[in-house]
Amino acid sequence: TLNNSTNIFWQECPVGKVERQKLLNQKGCVVWITGLSGSGKSTLACSVSRELHSKGKLSYILDGDNLRHGLNKDLGFKAEDRAENIRRVGEVAKLFSDAGLICIASLISPYRKDRDACRAMLPDASFIEVFMNMPLELCESRDAKGLYKLARAGKIKGFTGIDDPYERPLNCEIEIEQKDGVCPKPAAMAGQVVSYLEEKGFLQ
Ligand code: PPS
Repeated sequence: TLNNSTNIFWQECPVGKVERQKLLNQKGCVVWITGLSGSGKSTLACSVSRELHSKGKLSYILDGDNLRHGLNKDLGFKAEDRAENIRRVGEVAKLFSDAGLICIASLISPYRKDRDACRAMLPDASFIEVFMNMPLELCESRDAKGLYKLARAGKIKGFTGIDDPYERPLNCEIEIEQKDGVCPKPAAMAGQVVSYLEEKGFLQ
């Protein structure tokens, strides 16, 4: 990728990640939630953050929609823009996890190569990909923001799932799906993620 910075150095600080993690009693990591618009990414992110908070664990949510109001306000929805969006959020998530936090990133992140690039930025096993595997029909029927309706009417071009691709993860750590046609409740979905974090030792 393009790098216009030359003659630059890396500055180490004696207070490092290990010390910060000890202070916080947890291990920094990135929970990366991917899925269609309306699949429940933000609901899951909030529910995980609430559950972690109640356990005394520090987390922070990076929400795609929200970051597009500031950090990423110059980006649209073409493939290159989405790639840059994901790259920036990946870099920010890396900083948060280095700070010792459980960083919850919630973005459509439709391209596998963009998600894999974020995974490659992070220390082994600290990128936890969560796939909100919800059928398009369900997401579209919810249509909380009315965007699917606009996309179907041709008023939004390049809408994920309608006339823009979504590449499903091939090897995600956690998959959230319907059981017998019923969506799990937010607390149950969050439980799935928090149990994983507990099992892998991120909460100690
Ligand atoms: S991406 O693909 O990861 O860069 O997208 P993200 O940053 O997560 O932003 C997705 C939210 O932007 C709104 N929106 C669109 N989504 C998909 N395709 C198009 N063309 C589009 N235009 C606007 C939409 O509200 C998404 O919010 P969520 O939370 O996913 O429903």
